[in-house]
Amino acid sequence: MQVDLLAGTGHRPLAIPRPRSTILVFDSGLGGLTVLGRTTRACPGADIVYAADDAGFPYGRLGEAALVARVTDVMERLVARFHPDLVVIACNTASTLVLPTLRARFAIPFVGTVPAIKPAAAATRSGLISVLATPGTVARDYTRELIGTYAARHAVTLVGATRLAGLAEQALKGEAVDDAVLAAEIAPCFVEAAGRRTDVVTLSCTHYPLLLERMKRLAPWPVEWIDPAPAVARRVADLLPAAREPGLPGRDATAVFTGGGALTGPLRIALAGYGLAQVVVDPMPLEN
Ligand code: DGL
Repeated sequence: MQVDLLAGTGHRPLAIPRPRSTILVFDSGLGGLTVLGRTTRACPGADIVYAADDAGFPYGRLGEAALVARVTDVMERLVARFHPDLVVIACNTASTLVLPTLRARFAIPFVGTVPAIKPAAAATRSGLISVLATPGTVARDYTRELIGTYAARHAVTLVGATRLAGLAEQALKGEAVDDAVLAAEIAPCFVEAAGRRTDVVTLSCTHYPLLLERMKRLAPWPVEWIDPAPAVARRVADLLPAAREPGLPGRDATAVFTGGGALTGPLRIALAGYGLAQVVVDPMPLEN
């Protein structure tokens, strides 16, 4: 992408590449990597910073006031350090609560990740949809409003999984995850009623796509699993059109952790696989 600064002056156009923008992708832990992967592909012309508030993980257990305060504090630090042009909140648990506060506080665009109720309502044939999320996300007014707006005609089962995000973290860190434990976490998603069965499950925590292949294998019957990451990446690319094309060479993509206690060898390899060449720890303990 280039800008012609001399257009209309009679001089030969001088092509000056546009400066790259910086996208900050934020989550409580490693789940946002599923959104990062799609965003990096959609925006090769942007520098990427991935921020994991692992000192605060899991967000699903935090009360609403504590979560708003925590995300705002961490974001203050990240914005001051990395000066992003756009922030992706790659976390349903946070997005369903803190986006209005962040948008009021910072003068940059925030793109959220929220339960894909609308696409699920469009995809279901049986009328039975399950929303697989953290206990925080299923309890949100925002989630219930989405259901009322887009899926009022359908039977929606909210499944607040207490262990699934942690299991996804374990898997990415190279630790064993027991099939029986995983199967028990997803079992409430599979409902049979009046001769019909659930046919769509929304992956409404960004950690869950990390376990998708295993969940498909353990599911009692096949369903459509909806991951919002491609839609989030499209939204980011719409807001930063110049980032859709590779421009000048950029900075190495960086991952920043607020705890960093679990940066195992396998995890560092996984981060490198997502293009995160630099890993830094900026300690920010959770006070409670
Ligand atoms: N990845 C987060 C989400 O999308 C949640 C994990 C957590 O409980 O921190 O909801």
